[in-house]
Amino acid sequence: MQLIFLGPPGAGKGTMATRVAEDHDIPHISTGDIFRYNINNQTELGLQVKSILDSGELVPDDLTIDLVRDRLSQEDCANGFILDGFPRTIAQAEALQSFSNILCVLNFSIPDEIIVKRLSGRRVHKTSGRTYHVLHNPPKVPGKDDVTGEELIVRSDDQVDSIRKRLAVYYEQTAPLKEFYRNKGMLHEIDATPSPEEVYESMKKILKDA
Ligand code: AP5
Repeated sequence: MQLIFLGPPGAGKGTMATRVAEDHDIPHISTGDIFRYNINNQTELGLQVKSILDSGELVPDDLTIDLVRDRLSQEDCANGFILDGFPRTIAQAEALQSFSNILCVLNFSIPDEIIVKRLSGRRVHKTSGRTYHVLHNPPKVPGKDDVTGEELIVRSDDQVDSIRKRLAVYYEQTAPLKEFYRNKGMLHEIDATPSPEEVYESMKKILKDA
């Protein structure tokens, strides 16, 4: 099973990808998580991309494409994978076609006003990337990760200015991918507005027939 999760920031791609990856025992590959891991560990890549992520702009295509090409060539991707947050530009989508055979793209749709509420209530466990929401998916103990008990943080790009920038970048550079994949007959629409449980159930139906 090879899947792409497409959609604006905060649509719930990461939340659903975690569950589907567990169900099918395939890796959940989030380019955002890879960049943040490198930033947290102050690697050369992390130092290169930190200010880009904080500003809400996109990391350059060539760098991102090389990273994903390399990741997909690893052994754990042999039986499938979920790409979350890649591709984000037409250039990335075209490059991906040259090194994968993905046929199924799930597009998460959600109005902007809900996105802002979801992102401003998001809390993250920095080391694992586990994600919560203060209202919709709260941790057992407020402010603490369920597994380790460590403090949860607010992502540095979940400030209102950065959220607005990410949305603008999404409409300009990523939204055209819907047409790109629709024209190839690969696009499946998901209404990402309902509760996580309802979104998960509609995804399962699509994946059963995909
Ligand atoms: P990335 O990490 O990919 O961020 P994003 O696309 O903006 O997506 P998010 O992680 O913000 O949202 P999500 O849809 O995963 O939502 P989540 O499940 O967390 O990218 C970050 C940055 O990295 C980019 O800005 C860019 O700079 C760079 N980058 C990454 N990929 C790149 C690429 N390919 N090319 C170039 N640059 C790239 O859910 C959000 C919140 O809502 C959570 O609190 C969650 O608990 C809650 N929630 C989820 N589902 C529901 C629901 N159904 N109901 C209520 N609440 C819900």
